[in-house]
Amino acid sequence: MSINDIVTERSLKYRWPPFSRTHYVEKHGLLSIVRGEGSKVYDQNDREYLDAHASLWLVNVGYGRQEIVEAVHRQMEKLSWFSCFEGYTNLPSIDLAERLVGMLQPEGMDKIFFSGSGSEAIETALKIVRQYWKLKGKPEKYKIIARNRAYHGVNFGGMSATGMPANRAMFEPLLPGFLFAPCPDPYLREVDAPDDRFALACAGALEQMIKSEGANTVGAIIVEPVQGAGGVIIPPDGYLQELREVATRNDVLLIFDEVITGFGRTGDMFGARHWGVRPDIMAFAKGITSGYVPLGATAVSAPVFETFYANEQQGAFRHGNTYSGHPTACAAALANLDILEREDLAGNAKRIGHRLLDGLKGLLKHEIVGFVDGVGLLGRVQLVRDRKTRALFAPELAVADRISRRARELGVIFRPLPGDALSFSPPLCLTASEADSIVSVVDQAIGDVAATL
Ligand SMILES: Cc1ncc(COP(=O)(O)O)c(C=O)c1O
Repeated sequence: MSINDIVTERSLKYRWPPFSRTHYVEKHGLLSIVRGEGSKVYDQNDREYLDAHASLWLVNVGYGRQEIVEAVHRQMEKLSWFSCFEGYTNLPSIDLAERLVGMLQPEGMDKIFFSGSGSEAIETALKIVRQYWKLKGKPEKYKIIARNRAYHGVNFGGMSATGMPANRAMFEPLLPGFLFAPCPDPYLREVDAPDDRFALACAGALEQMIKSEGANTVGAIIVEPVQGAGGVIIPPDGYLQELREVATRNDVLLIFDEVITGFGRTGDMFGARHWGVRPDIMAFAKGITSGYVPLGATAVSAPVFETFYANEQQGAFRHGNTYSGHPTACAAALANLDILEREDLAGNAKRIGHRLLDGLKGLLKHEIVGFVDGVGLLGRVQLVRDRKTRALFAPELAVADRISRRARELGVIFRPLPGDALSFSPPLCLTASEADSIVSVVDQAIGDVAATL
């Protein structure tokens, strides 16, 4: 029995793994990653893999950064944690909030509310929206417009805003008042419009939804600047800018879920900056610490916070997680931001992202690749059964999954997403030669699997 078999057996015996089918794990086994360095990770047999997905889209500064380890160590020696509820605070969380408000000046963010994960950051955003409109004397503005194929986490609020039926079905009924506008996928289109009008047509469909519900019943629009888990959907230029206009015209708040796009991923520090949009609320996690320690954050504009401040006699914001403002997590985030800024990893994401995208576009030579798109170090290779009709493969064929398993055998990790998209989101310290290696392995993996179809 190999060491990986032993690990799989023990894991199956004791652990209930997230988002996994036990039967699948029994068939294909598990891989235990034991260490990492830069963009590479190593399994128990010391086999090397190039991590073309920064695990779950988040190890932005790469693995093995001693600077973060030492910052965590120093903070834990002093104070690992203390409550920030009701009369207490701590310096790392103040330093981090100040730093984030400074970084987010172009986006107009004024206050930071900390939590422990992306799902919690989203829950915080949704609760802010509810209370904001109550404080404004408009409690009927409780509806939230999300989009098809959105992913906003696993808690009931974020899940209610998630437009992926498989993530919702077993947990229904979810929260009332969540509506789904078309996804602005430029390839698998839900809105019929010529290319030059596609962005405005998608935003127009969303605005139409607000109008038919009645703008006086809608509190917020929530969007990922790039829809991640739904298929790495990069919106057409002009779409997010138009959503800002739609939100303002209809007196609705605009939430950007930047859990994936935050901290350099798009080649700019934030997705909002990449598309030049100022949202009212932004949610972060993942890249804020590059995953070294869990942390979530929700940022709000001054007008949003002022509404709470001016109406506090109606009630405080009765929300907070035990780990809100966790000093060790904040110390990790500060060290992580030092690296991101000092090494200009957003700039590297832009430069190497171009190279990776050019390479991935070469995969269009395979008949089963229908579309390739990317921004910064986020990439999508869309598989199709039929290029002409853009029909996808039958899910039972698990084509994307097979390609990703073949690529892993060849030493590259990326993610197959539902709907046959191959997703790429490597650490932002990726080098040019690593980008080239990703492309050549994916090329071979697609060729190998395509030959069996
Ligand atoms: C866009 C987006 N929002 C929210 C979340 C939830 O974050 P977490 O898994 O940290 O709860 C994720 C996680 O992948 C995400 O991609």
